[in-house]
Amino acid sequence: MLKVIEYRDGNLVILDQRLLPSEEKYIICTTVEEVRDAIRELAVRGAPLIAIAAAYGVCVGLHQYKDPSKLDYIVSTLKSARPTAYNIFLILDKINEKLRNIKDFDVLVSLAEDEARRVHDEDKELCDSIAENGQKVIPDGAKIITYCNTGMLATGGIGTALGVIYKAFWKGKLERVYACETRPLLQGARLTAYELSKNGVPVKLISDNMISYLFSKERIDLAIVGADRIVRNGDVANKIGTYNLAVVCKHFGIPFYVAAPYTTIDLSLEKGEDIPIEERSDKEIKFIYGKQISPLNVDVWNPAFDVTPSELITGIITDKGIFRPDEIKYLYGK
Ligand code: MRU
Repeated sequence: MLKVIEYRDGNLVILDQRLLPSEEKYIICTTVEEVRDAIRELAVRGAPLIAIAAAYGVCVGLHQYKDPSKLDYIVSTLKSARPTAYNIFLILDKINEKLRNIKDFDVLVSLAEDEARRVHDEDKELCDSIAENGQKVIPDGAKIITYCNTGMLATGGIGTALGVIYKAFWKGKLERVYACETRPLLQGARLTAYELSKNGVPVKLISDNMISYLFSKERIDLAIVGADRIVRNGDVANKIGTYNLAVVCKHFGIPFYVAAPYTTIDLSLEKGEDIPIEERSDKEIKFIYGKQISPLNVDVWNPAFDVTPSELITGIITDKGIFRPDEIKYLYGK
């Protein structure tokens, strides 16, 4: 698999996911503002990977400004990139807490770099634990449907939902994955189909409006999706269209699982309605690859995420095990 992110001497090298699957090109971010923009414009995306990029972004900003008093600005610049995924806020708050009283610049940079590498390594381990824990719900010869991209292009490791799927494949338990294309930005078609096929995993791509018909024609054992934020009552924000999939799964009696690390769980919010949902440009709906597909003057609504209510979720596969949505609030001691 391609390297998706690499920190090199104060710069952040990012695989530009906007160009996949047709081009495999890297961009080099030399300023914290460039890291913020790479996240905002989805050159790098996926809740865990956004947080890793931001952790390295702190180091980029420190090298850029060479001034410990700029730490607050660096952290708030990175926090302003995208509002919905929780991981970036949790990780930046932890890093800020560790660094904010350090006045010696060299010590500060070296601690920031250690911390960013630790965040990256930890995410890889969290993916492995989620993948292992998820195996309990995968039958032999499984046919699994997934949504958006939650794999090696979205995390520091093998992925969350896709991590469970990769592991099932390596254990010989997987018959096939159905990847939904994930309009409007096509992370399923461009990224999930790309990384699964690159890694030899049997994948069939469908457009998002084919889910009900697929379920009426074929046995699908379960759905597994990722998450951008999970709150106390077990509601889950994830890529727009996830809620649709959950509703259809309920109709057909297909188990619907969410896979996510602890870094996605925000116990400060009570319910899904409290989650800030990013709204993106109307251009993402009106154009595909620069080609206009609707009248320019039409009104558009473009939320990047939706919230799946906990009652539609069979279980949440975490690095600590599998839990019912209503058990999430007891997990981390709050
Ligand atoms: O807008 P994106 O591509 O960052 O959205 C990504 C998702 O919604 C993923 O499902 C989620 O971040 C989990 S990634 C392990």
